[in-house]
Amino acid sequence: MPQFPKDSWKDYSLLDSGRGMKLERFGSYVLERPEPKALWEPTMSRAEWDRLVHTVFAPGAGFGRAGKEDSGTWERRRTMPDQWHISYPGEGFGLDLRLGLTAFKHVGVFPEQAPNWEYIYSNTKALPGTPKVLNLFAYTGAASLAAKAAGADVTHLDSVRQVVTWARGNMESTGLEGIHWVVEDAMKFASREVKRGHVYQGIILDPPSYGHGPDGEKWKLDECLFDMLRMVSALLDPEHGWMVLNLYSNGYSAALGETVVREAFGLKDYTGITSGELALRDGFGKVLPLSIYVRLNR
Ligand SMILES: C[S@@+](CC[C@H](N)C(=O)[O-])C[C@H]1O[C@@H](n2cnc3c(N)ncnc32)[C@H](O)[C@@H]1O
Repeated sequence: MPQFPKDSWKDYSLLDSGRGMKLERFGSYVLERPEPKALWEPTMSRAEWDRLVHTVFAPGAGFGRAGKEDSGTWERRRTMPDQWHISYPGEGFGLDLRLGLTAFKHVGVFPEQAPNWEYIYSNTKALPGTPKVLNLFAYTGAASLAAKAAGADVTHLDSVRQVVTWARGNMESTGLEGIHWVVEDAMKFASREVKRGHVYQGIILDPPSYGHGPDGEKWKLDECLFDMLRMVSALLDPEHGWMVLNLYSNGYSAALGETVVREAFGLKDYTGITSGELALRDGFGKVLPLSIYVRLNR
């Protein structure tokens, strides 16, 4: 069975899904946006979606076409702000996350990631001393905040300055401080850290299918993942450490993720590796799987 965000998260719910769309409530506002994995029919009628929705993402001309940018616009159906906050009640920690309507249908949080935040918090707490945690491809930082809330010395890296600024705002609204911010290409930073002999007790990576560093460095998941994980294996404390790899694109399965990790880390078997799917359950019980995770505990 996949892992789901817990039901006690009052500020988020997937109300319905279907016909390539999802209807979600973030705090007081209901958003309708594309979800290619929702292959079925919605349970509620179009009229019911219209009655609930505040804003609908309207894809632009190139949306979903290879080589085109997945941008579009948000059409308002009811009054709502461009930016607002939601909170996440973790086991032993809490997050305050700023949301915003971006041109790429994202809002600044991936709710299905909540079980990873819980894993990061509890596994960081369980480590002795002040563990060092590195978050690569870190976006707006919910995972970084979970590690910081557990007392880690956190380095948050993303290639896009604006999302790092967004993450800093989330740290401040959550009431935390002292995260190290890095705007750089993930591969470049990781290889420099290996050369410097630096070691981390926790490493998080949630790489996209395609991306680029601030100087145009190309990231292609199929070609770069194994080399990246080899570097992560050199950076992870051989005695006490954990790693979370999240993959949401290219249709990679959890079993594939386990083998990539096993081989990159040079392990003789799968001991210490766990994996599974992260999913959302809509208001009618339909399960929408959105990513896979592979976790390694040393
Ligand atoms: C989908 S997001 C990760 C989501 C995040 N882990 C979360 O749950 O909130 C992928 C991130 O990778 C970043 N990225 C893409 N290419 C990169 C590169 N070469 N180096 C560093 N970051 C990169 C993007 O800017 C984006 O923020």
